Amino acid sequence: MSDADIGNGQAVETIRAALARHRPRGTPFLCLLRDTTLRSAIQAQAVGATEVLPADVPPSLLAKTITRLLQEGEGGEAASDAAAFTRSQLTVAAASLADMLGAASAGKPVTRGAVDASVRSIDEVAGAGNLGDLLQIVWNYDDLTYQHCMLVAGLAASFAHRLGFSAADRELVTRAAVLHDIGKARIPLEVLHKPGPLDEAEQAMVRTHPEIGHAMLLAQGGFAPVVLTAVRSHHEYLDGTGYPDGLSGAEIPDIVRIITICDIYAALIERRSYKAPMAPEAAFDILVQMGGKLDKDLLRAFEERIVKAHKAAQACATEQKPPQRAP
Ligand SMILES: [Fe+2]
Ligand SMILES: [Fe+2]
Repeated sequence: MSDADIGNGQAVETIRAALARHRPRGTPFLCLLRDTTLRSAIQAQAVGATEVLPADVPPSLLAKTITRLLQEGEGGEAASDAAAFTRSQLTVAAASLADMLGAASAGKPVTRGAVDASVRSIDEVAGAGNLGDLLQIVWNYDDLTYQHCMLVAGLAASFAHRLGFSAADRELVTRAAVLHDIGKARIPLEVLHKPGPLDEAEQAMVRTHPEIGHAMLLAQGGFAPVVLTAVRSHHEYLDGTGYPDGLSGAEIPDIVRIITICDIYAALIERRSYKAPMAPEAAFDILVQMGGKLDKDLLRAFEERIVKAHKAAQACATEQKPPQRAP
């Protein structure tokens, strides 16, 4: 249990270090918050909190929550080692994304260490090969920007592993995926997360995110050219109908084509509080119907290596559900 100002970077680092030292697998972590803003709750989740409560909660509720978490923790040990590994790696990735997006939205340079840490963790999870666990854990992130970045990066890293990419190429793909929407950190949240359809002006604003992201990273310096291209061009289509530059065919490198496919698939299978993720078949059908916009060979490989694994993971999750009682 922690009781610290989670808005303070040093406190967060101290909590992380303490958890790394003292938290065996499956141990619940209750995070008490001094301010209960959404940002603090997200930060707490990113650090790996099992549950969050305001620090001034009545002692009786605190005691009840601790008892429940301890009971659940004992039962929860049945969760496989693989799932625990995936969870702890993705917690690191989410915490790093929080640092990275926080810096970007405050107009500061993107924290290199945070990008490196999330790329490493996501690549390790993808290498362990369990796409089902990865999706299940990522779907638990309610913040749509985190969920989206982690989904795109998780899919892209898994795809790169399954295509047999070298470690260096995998790193580039995963880095491009982690950073692809970094420009969205500068778009107002009320537009980005607007529940209804966007009006024309709002759409135009959202469509500036590739150029904004590209300009941010270019100004900061030190990013591989293909990563910069992926940030700028992940909404381009092979038939020239995309944005911001209307590129077509050979003007769009393979790594960018991979990010585009993973980006669209991720947007289709994201989990919102009010809707279940779209089934893998239905999501893939939409990609196929996009015709000449996406790379056909890559799409076929994506079906073989990712969509099939996603379907298998889903079938397995459905089997594990308790049988419905007869009416
Ligand atoms: Fe985007
Ligand atoms: Fe995206």
